[in-house]
Amino acid sequence: MISKVTVTAPANIAFVKYWGRRDPARAIPANPSVSMTLSRCRTVTTVTFVPGDEAPDRIAVVDADGIAMEATGGFRERALAQIDRLRAMAGSRGTMRVATRNTFPTGAGIASSASGFAALTVAGARALGLDLDASGLSRLARESGSGSAARSLFGGYVEWPAPGMGPEAGAAPIAAPDWWDLRDVIAVVDRSEKDIPSVEGHRRAASSPHWSARQSLLPARTARVRDAIGARDIDALGPLLEEEAVELHIIAMSSIPPIFYWKPGTLRVLDEVRGLRGRGRRAWATMDAGANVHVICEAEDEDAVAEALRSLPEVEAVIVDGVGDGPRFVEEHLS
Ligand code: PMV
Repeated sequence: MISKVTVTAPANIAFVKYWGRRDPARAIPANPSVSMTLSRCRTVTTVTFVPGDEAPDRIAVVDADGIAMEATGGFRERALAQIDRLRAMAGSRGTMRVATRNTFPTGAGIASSASGFAALTVAGARALGLDLDASGLSRLARESGSGSAARSLFGGYVEWPAPGMGPEAGAAPIAAPDWWDLRDVIAVVDRSEKDIPSVEGHRRAASSPHWSARQSLLPARTARVRDAIGARDIDALGPLLEEEAVELHIIAMSSIPPIFYWKPGTLRVLDEVRGLRGRGRRAWATMDAGANVHVICEAEDEDAVAEALRSLPEVEAVIVDGVGDGPRFVEEHLS
């Protein structure tokens, strides 16, 4: 019987970054990472499984106007490989048709691969009748090559690998969404796809002369991030977010060969965030592997932060988001 499943899965913003792998082939991370799951930035994916059919699999990307185009490049290859992995696990034969749509700019440092591969993994597993819990799905999402997808399986505040588990473990929540109503005001300074995908950044990371210093700093910093979340202490968390984001980019910029993700608008926003703090706002910036800046604050500062960022000529758009839930099944299919 044909099965059709649609899932919406969230993006996430890393507070402690995953950058570098101990096992490149399987996306086993060099260090534990901690993230906040987002609410509005999501991917919606419909998977249709036609058992016994021998037609090639199809991966369509649906744009904001509802126009579907066949996916290309690295995303297509990884999505086809993930489908094969799921089908092999289920021991099934048949064709998978996938349609996927993001609610935010793709490949612009807003973790579209995390939400995309989380949604594909959850929808594909259900369409094939695989019986996996969230932890198993998280491990499987990581196998897609987008390690941060492992964290998008859960809402709230998430650590990957799960605390106390080995490096191969999936992610686990460390606090529920309603534990702390943090906001993420995202300044989009560049909508284009990044030139160097994060998979290449992970590969080059250990070539940076600063890599070993980062590894020695991470355990204490990660513990302080966990503690700050546990205490809902933005004044403790904020400086750690900036330290961590800048360090990720130091590693990227000093990798061999170097990778520059920042654009002039990135520095302009970082300057504005320092200005906001000078005016009494408790707001701190973080960036993933891209030019866009995520400004983390509490609800009371959200409007002032968004207004300040919108006034900057370098900022193309401001997305106001906050902490959200994990993946869910929905009835409205994309195709
Ligand atoms: O999941 P990947 O392979 O796209 O790597 C994500 C890397 C960062 O976004 C820079 C950091 C992170 O932990 O999300």
